[in-house]
Amino acid sequence: MINGLRQIRGFVQKELGYETTGHDYTHIERVVSLAKLILKGEDADEGLVIIAAYLHDVSDDKVTTNPQAKRKAIADELIGVGYDQDFVKKVFEIIDNMSYSANLKTHHKLSLEGQIVQDADRLDAIGAIGIARTFYFGGHFGEIMYNPRIMPRTGMDKAEYRKRGTVINHFYEKLFKLKDQMNTPTAKKIAEHRQQVMRDFVAEFVDEWNGTK
Ligand code: ADP
Ligand code: NI
Repeated sequence: MINGLRQIRGFVQKELGYETTGHDYTHIERVVSLAKLILKGEDADEGLVIIAAYLHDVSDDKVTTNPQAKRKAIADELIGVGYDQDFVKKVFEIIDNMSYSANLKTHHKLSLEGQIVQDADRLDAIGAIGIARTFYFGGHFGEIMYNPRIMPRTGMDKAEYRKRGTVINHFYEKLFKLKDQMNTPTAKKIAEHRQQVMRDFVAEFVDEWNGTK
């Protein structure tokens, strides 16, 4: 049994329950399930993986306007259920360095536990769920779906990455790249199929857009 799990779940549910960009509590539950699956093939600290998976989006600047306050809330929550400063530090090392946007210009070396949470989060960004979340996010932030004259961007830093693009370009700017960036063999295998689902979808989308199908 993982210490304080029930309270931490309640905390995350309260923080992300009404999130409407694709980072709601159901995303967290899927990431936790995927992390458990990946854990079966790795010799890692299960408690750290599960706790970091639950907390990974709470203080992200995509979902909050006050990341500093959320970081404090996370630390208070962990200390409140009995974890020590060393554990809190390990959790922040994971959630601060695992995101795609944090790794655009530098490559952060993650602990094995961090690599597992990163893989789980990235698996939920691809495949059928990934397609749905991307359109959901794009709609929320006022992106257009597609414009064949707008080319996918390359070499972006975080500020450029956060500027509006098109939903279809997001597949080229991020989602198609994730398969080859998976850390663990379990995630690499799951990513193969999800990649194909996205490739088929984008090809079909463009054919229908062009009226050739
Ligand atoms: P991270 O937290 O790893 O930095 P991102 O912010 O890149 O993750 O994205 C999380 C999810 O939000 C993506 O997988 C995608 O579904 C969606 N998303 C992010 N940026 C865009 C965008 N410009 N257009 C559409 N969807 C996006
Ligand atoms: Ni996430």
